[in-house]
Amino acid sequence: MKKTGMKLSDVQEVYSGFEGALWELIMGEQIHIGGFASSKALGDSAGWKKDEEVLDLCSAVGGGVRFLTRVYDVKAYGVDATPHMVNRSIERIKAEGFADRIEIKLGDVTDIPYPDAKFDGVWGEDTWCYVEDKAKLIEEAARVLKPGGKIAFTDWLVGPAGMTEEDSARICTTMKFPDMLNLQEYSELLEKNGFEVVESADLTDTMAEHIENYLGQLAGQRHFDAMQLLGWNYDVFNFLGAEFGFMLEKAKSGEFGRGRLVAVKK
Ligand SMILES: C[S@@+](CC[C@H](N)C(=O)[O-])C[C@H]1O[C@@H](n2cnc3c(N)ncnc32)[C@H](O)[C@@H]1O
Repeated sequence: MKKTGMKLSDVQEVYSGFEGALWELIMGEQIHIGGFASSKALGDSAGWKKDEEVLDLCSAVGGGVRFLTRVYDVKAYGVDATPHMVNRSIERIKAEGFADRIEIKLGDVTDIPYPDAKFDGVWGEDTWCYVEDKAKLIEEAARVLKPGGKIAFTDWLVGPAGMTEEDSARICTTMKFPDMLNLQEYSELLEKNGFEVVESADLTDTMAEHIENYLGQLAGQRHFDAMQLLGWNYDVFNFLGAEFGFMLEKAKSGEFGRGRLVAVKK
């Protein structure tokens, strides 16, 4: 698809302000679709082992690294480009007593601040859709992985039914994504960078129920909290409601989707 022109600075603005807080309000500290169950399906597919070193690319408030440490007892690392998110993740990691098991760095995932072949795993959850240069991101992930290391991620995608340029640009602009790939495009990028894809799962069929859940929370149980974050601006609330309604329609038709990929570095 054609790029929307969204830049890292637009994404940093989102995650330093009310939009990022709104996503956390409706999704929780794991800012991705499906929360714990989605992470567990991804982690079990990757098969992380105790004491392996796993790097979360776009680690946000550290929901992912804390999940990985609690559930698989790995040594987790995170990189995120928004200082506000990095600071909050470090505070929460410390508060949970994981300061000696988790390290977070401020950085851009297309220029990962770690040496070659350091990690057993690279992890990402519903977030690489924000990255401008996805080819460079996968190249960097391959660089920091040991041979035999795994990359495991979920992401928001163009669904199996395909999407028009106009519709994908509308969703990407609302969400501040530069673009979205489809499962096939991600597989090709992985293969080009020396990975063997071991799982490529289309999760589009579960997308609509999650969007309905978020819309329900915004209008119902969490309406007051959402409006506090939005400064009681009903123009913004109505805009988001309409755009999420559009995404729901596109998810139901299989045009707007999500997927899970796991691949091994040869
Ligand atoms: C949806 S949140 C990530 C959620 C996280 N994966 C989870 O499951 O909790 C998006 C995060 O990506 C970060 N981000 C976006 N583009 C980035 C880039 N190029 N480099 C590093 N971080 C980036 C943002 O700062 C933000 O904290």
